[in-house]
Amino acid sequence: MKPSSLPHAVGLTALGTYVPSKVVTNHDLAKIVDTNDEWVVSRTGIKERRISEDNEFVSTLAFRAVDNLVQKYGSAVLEGVDLVIVATNTPDALFPSTAALVQSHFGLKAGAFDLLAACPGWIYALSAAHAYVKSGVCKKVLTIGSEVLSKVVDWTDRTTCVLFGDGACAAIVEEVPDGYGFKSFVLGSDGLGGKHLYMKCVAPSLPDGTMIQDKLYMNGREVFKFAVRIMESATIQALEKADMKLEDIALFIPHQANYRIIDAARAYLKLPLEKVMSNVERYGNTSTASIGIAMQEALDTNRIKDGDDLLLVTFGAGLTWASGVVRWYHKSF
Ligand code: UT7
Repeated sequence: MKPSSLPHAVGLTALGTYVPSKVVTNHDLAKIVDTNDEWVVSRTGIKERRISEDNEFVSTLAFRAVDNLVQKYGSAVLEGVDLVIVATNTPDALFPSTAALVQSHFGLKAGAFDLLAACPGWIYALSAAHAYVKSGVCKKVLTIGSEVLSKVVDWTDRTTCVLFGDGACAAIVEEVPDGYGFKSFVLGSDGLGGKHLYMKCVAPSLPDGTMIQDKLYMNGREVFKFAVRIMESATIQALEKADMKLEDIALFIPHQANYRIIDAARAYLKLPLEKVMSNVERYGNTSTASIGIAMQEALDTNRIKDGDDLLLVTFGAGLTWASGVVRWYHKSF
């Protein structure tokens, strides 16, 4: 493609989501592990989460989130999609990729790959989609964050099983009118912190010798300290890269892992409550899907208008983090 015909601005143009119908409350969890509603609410802000059925997997949730896109915007929303990226930590299989399953399910003429960057995976996927479209390699990218962490948590470990929920989001990234779209991305990683949050795949241990157990392991206190620090710095860096100030942001949409982490970042940044989106109370931590699900709720409740600047910031295993600013474009398909 000639440089003159490359898109000037690339952004999000459509968003869909799906959460399983089964609601599991803290009271339900108190029947299977030594916990209680008061502890979980006061330490995390979570009251309930959605849990997938035995026959629902990451591909199932991804299909439903794309179905939701089509229901809302019509089938034209998928026309011309030439790449599918699925961010997930719990794919149906290592291969084929879940992205290839999505491509064939919807009959798309598109390339497909999965992306693994823990909870920040969907923001990594958005940044990759932005780069593909901006450079002219692709025109329209379907990005998905889909997660069934309930299938890999240790349901006897009260320190982790109360935190997570299942869900999916799907969004289109393509050219948008000048002035709209992505203004910045910040991507970061500190692999020395890998030992604080991990899950087994092939190797018995990490390179530092940490033995990897079968189910998800997390050192909550270490991840908490990292999360508060990184949410603040990644927010400031995303603003600096976009040449913007915090006052320019209409809505701060952070990773929904723990309300205390969100509120600590809000207090540090001196953001008013109404500028911070949180629905962790009802979904828990849905990992790669959490920001998309929160963004959808903000759209549904008219907290996002055409032209609003949104700040997205997230952290997770790796340890990794990602942030970015996007100006919302309300497209009619
Ligand atoms: O996207 C991935 C990101 N992961 C995260 O964002 C997690 C970040 N970390 C956290 O959110 C918090 O560290 C937790 C919510 C995991 C834990 O909260 P905390 O305030 O750091 O609690 P703690 O780990 O210091 O534990 C305090 C006490 C302990 O008992 P003792 O040792 O003081 O007797 C725990 O055994 O709370 C106990 N405890 C529980 N009690 C009731 C831990 N989990 C539970 C539970 N119910 N579910």
